[in-house]
Amino acid sequence: MMNRADTLLMNNPARARLQRAYEVPLLQRLGAAFGGCEVVEIGCGRGVGTQLMLERMGAAHVSALDLDPAMVDRARRRLSRFGARVDVQVGDACHLPLDDESVDAVVDFGIIHDVPAWREAVAEAVRVLRPGGQFVFEEVTRHALQRRSYRTFLEHPEHDRFSAEEFVTELERHGFDFPQPPVTRFFGDFVIGVAVKATPPTGPSRP
Ligand SMILES: C[S@@+](CC[C@H](N)C(=O)[O-])C[C@H]1O[C@@H](n2cnc3c(N)ncnc32)[C@H](O)[C@@H]1O
Repeated sequence: MMNRADTLLMNNPARARLQRAYEVPLLQRLGAAFGGCEVVEIGCGRGVGTQLMLERMGAAHVSALDLDPAMVDRARRRLSRFGARVDVQVGDACHLPLDDESVDAVVDFGIIHDVPAWREAVAEAVRVLRPGGQFVFEEVTRHALQRRSYRTFLEHPEHDRFSAEEFVTELERHGFDFPQPPVTRFFGDFVIGVAVKATPPTGPSRP
């Protein structure tokens, strides 16, 4: 659960503006494309990211999940006008209620650094993505989490956090490709990118 400072930082118009005016256009430049896609947003918070995927990025349907029932309530209120194009539920990024290879994109707007077993959340994204599907991320690195301001006001797991390079390496270990190199922002505090799940090679069939 987020503490009071986390909640204020996430649930305010400036955060929504940043997502709308900066993060989504940057992700689109890096190749994020959801036209007609089945998308999952892990850790959807109050649902601004999901709203942008439906309004601006052409997603056909978004499953939005968050561990915190209060955030799910907020997201449901925000997203109710999208009807059957969205469902919002309490759910854990490490145990997604989805079949293997059932979605076209998994979106992570700054949640995996909050997950103690963060590699499990990455592995779960790999499991549910179809080959060729996109893992779209904006993540907070160890560099940021070690800042005094973060440690004083915000609550995050401290053990085994990742650098930008370690996060990208973990994705590569699962066979993700990066059509465009991920970027870091704000002195390495954030790593942002679009990774594509490898498609198994189709060799000639044996007689
Ligand atoms: C830093 S907030 C980001 C919220 C939103 N994605 C945004 O960018 O505004 C992290 C969110 O992830 C949720 N969260 C943390 N651990 C989670 C987990 N294991 N599974 C799903 N959601 C989780 C929190 O409840 C919180 O809403």
